[in-house]
Amino acid sequence: MNIVILAAGMGKRMRSALPKVLHPLAGKPLLAHVLDCARSLQPSRIIIVHGHGGAQVQALLDAPDLRWALQEPQLGTGHAVMQTTSELDESVPTLVLYGDVPLITKQTLERLISVSGSACLALLTVHLDDPTGYGRIVRDGDRIVRIVEQKDADDAVRAIREVNTGILIAPTVALKRWLGALSNDNAQREYYLTDIVSAAVAEGVAVTATQPSGLWETLGVNSKAQLATLERVAQQRIASQLMEDGVTLADPARIDVRGSLQCGRDVSIDVNCVFEGNVLLGDDVTIGAHCVIRNAQIGAGTQLLPFTHIDGASIGAQARIGPYARLRPGTELADETHVGNFVEMKNAKVAKGSKANHLAYIGDAVVGERVNIGAGTITCNYDGVNKHQTVIEDDAFIGSDTQLVAPVRVGRGATLGAGTTLTRDAPAEQLTVSRAKQMSISSWKRPVKRAGKKSS
Ligand code: UD1
Ligand code: CA
Repeated sequence: MNIVILAAGMGKRMRSALPKVLHPLAGKPLLAHVLDCARSLQPSRIIIVHGHGGAQVQALLDAPDLRWALQEPQLGTGHAVMQTTSELDESVPTLVLYGDVPLITKQTLERLISVSGSACLALLTVHLDDPTGYGRIVRDGDRIVRIVEQKDADDAVRAIREVNTGILIAPTVALKRWLGALSNDNAQREYYLTDIVSAAVAEGVAVTATQPSGLWETLGVNSKAQLATLERVAQQRIASQLMEDGVTLADPARIDVRGSLQCGRDVSIDVNCVFEGNVLLGDDVTIGAHCVIRNAQIGAGTQLLPFTHIDGASIGAQARIGPYARLRPGTELADETHVGNFVEMKNAKVAKGSKANHLAYIGDAVVGERVNIGAGTITCNYDGVNKHQTVIEDDAFIGSDTQLVAPVRVGRGATLGAGTTLTRDAPAEQLTVSRAKQMSISSWKRPVKRAGKKSS
């Protein structure tokens, strides 16, 4: 089959510089949702009709399996499909989708394809309590005879509640013939794709209709409000699927997945967590409330405590991260590591059983096993021009409020005294401390206020 995706409309009501079909839904452009669904049907060709912001759309989404047809100016949905006729394979039917109707499902389209047969025109229709704005499906008895647009309809037609979703499948040779005969003699001076219905009927070609599994599948995005409505629909569906797969969600209405989230067995996720990109959670992982996790891999049994932020990091099994931890790209934590509150890590490899429990910055570092990093420890990795590495070997103990001025190495089993500013390597097994000597002055008296003087 050929699939034509209409995406030339400008989406004025979005009030945005971004072309409408590039607005993200569940972390992915609207048009990318339609493309995923289209590809799942394994069509022989996919042709996208683009216009407003077309170059930007093409630059972002182009792929070897796509063909692009420019529609300039935009003279209606029929005119849009006309721009694709030279690209259509006549030996197979043509399915028309909308680039701004992102949630259409493979199941519904397969049903539409199955009712279309080889020589008939099949429409996807829905029944609406308020059909205002849509093209109405006019029937003679059971037989569909034409579609009338809202602006061309009289009161009797406007009372019809069965409407055109715009999605249809047609035999290609006939479609080209019907398109060639379209006129713009209507209220909007547009070439309506919907006029192919009366053309088919006039030729004695059967016109059938089927309905989607859910009304939401046919909802389009014309405004930010509709985008938000569809975002909720998409998130509810993702949450339902996660629960079906055995994930415990504290509240399925308070999770946002903007990409792919794969979970092992007995994963549990508290409220208000956001997952972006590709996230992999192992068995028995628990995610506390308000975590933002992006492109991360988290090992079995690991606990993320509330308000943890992870981007581009991998964490082993049985680790404990947070609350309020921030793991930035290139962080690799091994099994049984602990990273506590207000600890930031970037490009840091931390081996098994090591801990940084409070208030630290560990960047461009390699940390061995069983290392204890005290509160207030900072790797001074940046000299204003270049980044340098800090190496901390197994079993080292880094006292609180220590600065490690990289490049620097702390030997195996070394202890750094609290407050040390380490500028040279610390030898293994020894105590290294850099600190002004403490003194006490026994004769010192605290100043007192002189009599008769007012304090200002
Ligand atoms: C169209 C249908 C109407 C249906 C409604 C469903 C026609 C004449 N009318 O209405 O029966 O109920 O969809 O939403 O087909 N587009 C182009 N080029 C154009 C015009 C539109 O690519 O010149 C694209 C738009 O980007 C959009 C889609 O076609 O993705 C539908 O256009 P829109 O203007 O929203 O639909 P209507 O004409 O209002
Ligand atoms: Ca229109």
